[in-house]
Amino acid sequence: MKYILPGIITITFIVMLSNCTGNSKESDKAVYSEADLSMGFNLVETNCFACHNLNPDMTTRVAPPMAMVKTHYIEKNTTQEQFINDLTHFMKNPNEKDTKMPGAIKKYGIMPKMMFSDEQLRAIAVYIYQTDIEKPEWFAEHYEEEKQKYQQKLNSANPTHVEQGLKYAMATKAVLGKNLLNAINTKGTEGALAFCNEKAIPLTDSMQNQLSISIKRVSDKNRNPDNAANLDELEYIMKSKHLLEDGEEIKPAIQEKGEKIVGYYPIMTTQMCLQCHGLPEKDIQAGTLSKLSSLYPEDKATGYGENELRGIWVVEMKK
Ligand code: HEC
Ligand code: HEC
Repeated sequence: MKYILPGIITITFIVMLSNCTGNSKESDKAVYSEADLSMGFNLVETNCFACHNLNPDMTTRVAPPMAMVKTHYIEKNTTQEQFINDLTHFMKNPNEKDTKMPGAIKKYGIMPKMMFSDEQLRAIAVYIYQTDIEKPEWFAEHYEEEKQKYQQKLNSANPTHVEQGLKYAMATKAVLGKNLLNAINTKGTEGALAFCNEKAIPLTDSMQNQLSISIKRVSDKNRNPDNAANLDELEYIMKSKHLLEDGEEIKPAIQEKGEKIVGYYPIMTTQMCLQCHGLPEKDIQAGTLSKLSSLYPEDKATGYGENELRGIWVVEMKK
């Protein structure tokens, strides 16, 4: 089977931003490109806003709004480089020791870890730093504008839909993640089990209706019999597991199948997953365990540790 790695958006001009606003927050000048902003916007929109809501809705909130995060990461003299470093540092390994928002951890629990390359983290940080996301009027006045501006770029730079497919997988993941966190916070692990059991598949279905492409989650060690990986999927999973064993990074992959393009995207475990996918008794409490075995008599999805490949997203797109 042949994999083609997704192309990277290449927009080349560099913007040197001199400090014309007279605001000396920026040390001197910050260097970033239009491509950073475009990539950053798309990553933030797809991966962050589902949890870091823009419009405050206290009832479904699972994380502090992005504006609040930003203000905790920027003090009077924080430079762009420092902001990039601090954000990247936390994103790579969310933990209590490195937090700048201990109150948020107490209230919501630690943020699940996500997998981004250094380049992506930089773009995310640059975007958050450079836009006025923290201003109350930003969402009402600029969000739609930015969406159109940057999504157009993404589309025109990607005639193959490859990047788009990955974007859909990430969007679905963020929505699932948000709903899962919300269920755990409000109903506890056992209560959240019901959410995964009843809502995970319908939720991925509703995303695909919305996006008119197909998305599913599968695994080599599946819990739900409907989520078993087929041979092509298994091949990608095995290959990725070998890479992980060798300490290498796994990357999304694309396969052409007749009229379709199929994208594979890794789903890694974080600390948060272990209460339902970790070691029985040690990580998974007795009550949860007995519920699991009655719902899924053939459950293979336990025994995981942190940072392991739990499964993959499979995104099917028309050519
Ligand atoms: C599944 C929900 C979820 C998603 C998706 C998510 N976050 Fe978070 N994030 C949280 C929660 C919960 C907290 C508060 C607890 C904490 O600080 O770890 C948080 C806190 C943070 C913090 C503050 C960390 C600290 O404690 O100092 C940063 C920075 C952050 N998120 C950035 C991001 C960025 C950037 C993205 C998108 C790439 C993102 N988050 C996506 C849930 C999420
Ligand atoms: C509250 C318990 C719970 C938590 C926490 C949880 N899961 Fe699951 N997970 C489930 C259940 C239940 C299913 C079966 C869903 C179904 O029937 O479709 C499942 C299914 C899955 C599947 C689909 C493949 C399969 O085995 O059927 C993947 C992939 C997955 N989980 C990944 C994760 C990851 C990654 C995390 C952490 C970020 C996580 N889960 C956290 C309970 C949980």
